[in-house]
Amino acid sequence: MRIAFASCMDEEKHQRQRVWAAVQAQAPDMLLLLGDHVYMDWGLDAFHDESTWRKCIDADPRAHLPRFAADMHARYANQWQVESFRALVRDVLARRGASALLLTWDDHDFAWNNASGGSTHGTLRHVQPTVAFISRELFKQFSSVLRTPGAPDAYPAAPAFDFAALIATPPVLPEAVSPWLPLTTAAGAVPLLLLDQRSHRMSLDEPQPSLLGTAQATLLRDSVGNGSGLLIVAGGSPMRHDKGRHEQGWRSLPDANGVRREYTEYRAFLDAVQQAGRAVLYLAGDIHRNAYGGPVEAASQIVQVLSSGAARKLGSTGLFGLVTLADEPGAALNSDVRIDLFNNASVEVTRTLAVRDGRWQNAPPGACTGGAGEGAGNGDEDPRVTGRAVHAVDGRE
Ligand SMILES: [Fe+2]
Repeated sequence: MRIAFASCMDEEKHQRQRVWAAVQAQAPDMLLLLGDHVYMDWGLDAFHDESTWRKCIDADPRAHLPRFAADMHARYANQWQVESFRALVRDVLARRGASALLLTWDDHDFAWNNASGGSTHGTLRHVQPTVAFISRELFKQFSSVLRTPGAPDAYPAAPAFDFAALIATPPVLPEAVSPWLPLTTAAGAVPLLLLDQRSHRMSLDEPQPSLLGTAQATLLRDSVGNGSGLLIVAGGSPMRHDKGRHEQGWRSLPDANGVRREYTEYRAFLDAVQQAGRAVLYLAGDIHRNAYGGPVEAASQIVQVLSSGAARKLGSTGLFGLVTLADEPGAALNSDVRIDLFNNASVEVTRTLAVRDGRWQNAPPGACTGGAGEGAGNGDEDPRVTGRAVHAVDGRE
């Protein structure tokens, strides 16, 4: 069982996207796309605390909500026009079927940089329900096209949104985005949970901040508690984030007093895994590089691996991950798990981790973003477990 995972593609900046041919060459049995399929606000705007889209839509929704919908739809349609991307999707579908193609979203395809669908109205990252409704419908459309592509390569027109009705009566959104998100499934002999980390995400500065919402937090807890052995959990955001803005991970960096803020699910997840005594492989993206993160905290059985920067520009393109699992029944309890992090056809990082009696036996420390970590890892790599060959990024595409 070979699981390819990738995130962060920006067709506007990068039309060719040869990374997908490199993924296809690995003949994955499953393809996880972990968010930022389009970039609604990349550029200078992404550095502002408040999205220009948000401000415009607040000021004049009748003018700007249709613009937002048209822009997002066009970006998805353009991504589908990337030939190498379509070829990979059609190849996975032909070999493994639609259930092998899993998608979640992150901030830039949910709405804008660091977008938080569950934050309080008026906070900087808040996403209006009208915006969340539109982005959800367009994400579902993109997911449908990927799973059941039309012939030959057409991308359908945008849904006929009734903008006036949406503005007059903001929609109440169901917990789940679609039948495909959140999702419990299996990668061969190993259970897999795919999370939506944007619809319910609050600001870390709010009291009792939730990342997943009530139903999804329960799903995560139950997925950990019911069963034994290796569990794969995948989403858009790193659990452990060694640098960057403080709301980007499942907990913040330490403040001046050394205090971290945590989403409530961070400690709950760690505790549930500790109690269950099972290995968890946490896959995510967001950081625009490859990183073997190691245990998210010292002695934790949650090992984080990130791959992001599939098709952006210059220094963050061509990157994807491949997890190779044994197929035999019982592989979740006793098997070797190989992790390869690629830059196009070149392998940047290789790790082989052993699951024995359902627990990681030898997961070495790592660092998720190359910054100064603490606790579990400091970025040092053990040459005994890392076959590292760094290749220059080809920025000429
Ligand atoms: Fe991204």
